[in-house]
Amino acid sequence: MRGIVKRKLRHIRVSLEKEVEADISTGFKDVHLIHRALPEIDLDEVSLETSFLGNKLTAPLVISAITGGTEEAKDINAVLAEVAEEKQIGISVGSQRIAVAQPETVPSFSIVRVKAPTTFVMANVGTPQLSLGWGATEAQMCIDMIEADALALHMNPLQEAVQVDGDTKYRGVYAKIKELSNDISVPLIMKETGAGIAWEDAVKMQEVGASGLEISGVGGTSWSAVEYHIAKEVGKKDMEYLGQALWNWGIPTAVSVVETSNKTTLEIIASGGLRTGVEVAKSLALGANLGGMAKPFLEKAVEGREALSEHVDHIIREIKVVMFLVGAKNVEELRMVPVVILGRTAEWLNRRGFDVDEYVTRT
Ligand SMILES: Cc1cc2nc3c(=O)[nH]c(=O)nc-3n(C[C@H](O)[C@H](O)[C@H](O)COP(=O)(O)O)c2cc1C
Repeated sequence: MRGIVKRKLRHIRVSLEKEVEADISTGFKDVHLIHRALPEIDLDEVSLETSFLGNKLTAPLVISAITGGTEEAKDINAVLAEVAEEKQIGISVGSQRIAVAQPETVPSFSIVRVKAPTTFVMANVGTPQLSLGWGATEAQMCIDMIEADALALHMNPLQEAVQVDGDTKYRGVYAKIKELSNDISVPLIMKETGAGIAWEDAVKMQEVGASGLEISGVGGTSWSAVEYHIAKEVGKKDMEYLGQALWNWGIPTAVSVVETSNKTTLEIIASGGLRTGVEVAKSLALGANLGGMAKPFLEKAVEGREALSEHVDHIIREIKVVMFLVGAKNVEELRMVPVVILGRTAEWLNRRGFDVDEYVTRT
């Protein structure tokens, strides 16, 4: 378990200090909302209030899973949670695997509920743990530890495959997810970590009991990139090669939002490379319910509470202005505005059998 602590510290340091962004677009540059010269609403009447899996949020925004398990992580989680509570947006903890094995690390996760007593909080457990013997009991421990409103089960086959001694056993995983989803006390969210979710998988995830998805597509933080830097530091040439080779692997975020929202009735968090309020608004117009960010919020959290709070304000304000400019008074209306999808994203979606023209003609 000392190895996990070391890895977690490395992940934070590498994410903050090295180039870890995918070198491929999320697709949002191909996605255009229609400007309304006369929006016929007042900016002041635009409401960002929304709900996700039955939980009320003041804006369609969530701090995606980042960390836990160390003293440094506890400080970061405290700042993230204080701001999530202040703004009444969602927040997730990082993988809680370590907290089950080493109870002394629990406070680094439970601080989130202490600092964010009323807002939407997600627990986080890795799907690979299911192959290593975890089930509903361990998942429920993680939920109870932070009094979570939902459990995100993260999927990271790419990251595990490009890291030294990664957990790459996924055979039989749907049956295990089904068992788990039946026995936990909160809704289950299936969460990718930067390579996106295809509609074929999303449909199966819904069948085995998921209530939501966090699609985390390619275009933002690349776990191949993170593992590339780590492999380089520890002198593992083969993993360094793989990390570089698969740096841009995955389904672009905008594509994954369209695929999964079209083929399922699941509630969807768009994440993976979202960096602006405009992109959050585009995600919602494409069918997502919330936008999530990890690295941008981590960068601000290490600067301090004020820096993060200000940044979240900027993003919320930006979403609000975009909603005004497209004439959407609320999130429901934003989710129905016409969208023009061009370029590589349109081509990808068309080849996968989605009609991008349906997004232009809706009123
Ligand atoms: C330092 C760091 C640690 C992360 N740890 C986790 C984790 O423990 N569990 C998880 O589901 N995702 C984890 N993620 C992935 C993010 O939640 C997110 O899916 C991914 O970074 C893409 O979003 P971004 O481009 O906004 O960073 C982590 C991301 C970062 C940057």
